[in-house]
Amino acid sequence: MLGEKQEQMQISVIGSGYVGLVAATCLAELGHNVVCIDNDPAKIKALNSGETLIHEDYLQELLSRHRGVRLTFSTSIQKSTKNARVVFIAVGTPSAEDGSVDLSAVESVVQSLAGSAHGYKVIVEKSTVPVYTSERVQKTLAAKGREHGEFDVVSNPEFLREGTAVTDFLYPDRIVVGTSTTQAADIMREIYAPLIDGSYALLPSAVPRPERARLQPMYIETSPRSAELIKHSSNAYLALKISFINAVANFCESVGANIEEVCKGIGSDSRIGPDFLRAGIGYGGSCFPKDVAAFRAVTREFGYDFSLLDEIKRINEQQRFRFVHKVRNALDTIKGKRLAVLGLAFKDGTDDVRESPAVNVIEQLLEEKCEITAFDPAAMDRAKQVLGNKICYAADPYAAMDGADALLILTEWKEFASLDLQRIKRLLRSPIVLDGRNVFSHAEMAEAGLSYYSIGRPTLEPSHSLMRKGHIAS
Ligand code: UGA
Repeated sequence: MLGEKQEQMQISVIGSGYVGLVAATCLAELGHNVVCIDNDPAKIKALNSGETLIHEDYLQELLSRHRGVRLTFSTSIQKSTKNARVVFIAVGTPSAEDGSVDLSAVESVVQSLAGSAHGYKVIVEKSTVPVYTSERVQKTLAAKGREHGEFDVVSNPEFLREGTAVTDFLYPDRIVVGTSTTQAADIMREIYAPLIDGSYALLPSAVPRPERARLQPMYIETSPRSAELIKHSSNAYLALKISFINAVANFCESVGANIEEVCKGIGSDSRIGPDFLRAGIGYGGSCFPKDVAAFRAVTREFGYDFSLLDEIKRINEQQRFRFVHKVRNALDTIKGKRLAVLGLAFKDGTDDVRESPAVNVIEQLLEEKCEITAFDPAAMDRAKQVLGNKICYAADPYAAMDGADALLILTEWKEFASLDLQRIKRLLRSPIVLDGRNVFSHAEMAEAGLSYYSIGRPTLEPSHSLMRKGHIAS
């Protein structure tokens, strides 16, 4: 944790969502004294009574380690930021109708902070915000009568992925700090010192370092505007990679090539790299769709026509329609068909269904009057809040597919890849698998004798599987 020369820093984190809760817990893990603040009393009560609220590896463990010791929870910005040297703002920044970012929650937090300031504070934007937000924050503070020099505003974007957020925080590729004063820059360096010098990883109690993680992160100091842009550009670029590979996968289907072979060839170029080249039914979640739209909106606001961002979004949305079209083709007609769905979360390792491509595909299939029984290892409860009783929920993957006309894989959970294919074949009424995430290998599907449709790979239609069980019986 903290080195001999370092002081324990008093930090407040406002917001206890995915970003705020993970940041607060990990800052406590780095040795700081942290208060996590949320205006929802029910959340704070739950956190105080030992609940974790979100599905994240290591979070439960770290919360139990620090709760009530170096990490406390509060509903009051006024009281709980009084002694803080640094205040991280990690509240929601949802999309407005036109795709731009709704900054009202950030604005209201800054207003409260302006009214309750005691001494110099560094205000850190942790929420994803568009370029120029740090100036807006400064203007709000000035309008409330706060003097220049009482506050510094820093942009410190997060690059956490849901599911691996804790290890992403503690073993980042890079830490980006956008600031315009040396005082704030020094304080930020002090906060992250155990990560910058690699000393955190050497602690016996440290969360284990993932295999591919760097020993020490790049520490990148920039202007606040550049830091804000780094966040939007990073997410837009990752979304671009996914849409690009999905477009290539679609073309592979037109010409009988195999996207996996193509990806191996592309990704082995060190300038491109193999990550984020998994073709499928597209990206979802609370970040990429929102951030691509927000980036587009801010570029438009400043008079730059970044239309490539529209294309990223268009390809992503098209990917889900293409998949439903594929289901229709594989089943001849889909009206009234019973379909088994594996996967509801927007990706594996999380219970989050926000902007989930799986949910979108299910909604399209419901429009076509399909009957759906679904299973997801973590996201069933959250999916029920969205889909309610429009679909049935199975207790395990096999129960979902019993008697179904086809099996659809919509989330890339690793455990789906080890399902017993012979059992799947016995349970399905027609031995048809449509894999929207390329979870299964061609070879195993061919051996199992299943009809197999995936993304950007040739379709497998074993001659015997064309005779659907229903047809054989009649
Ligand atoms: C993403 C970024 O990866 C994080 O760096 C960033 O901090 C975060 O957004 C954020 O802005 O808060 P996350 O949304 O958790 O993280 O999920 P990813 O792992 O990036 O996956 C996003 C979507 O892309 C998922 O739907 C996933 O299935 C899809 N995906 C990902 C693909 O379709 N293909 C791929 O090759 C990779």
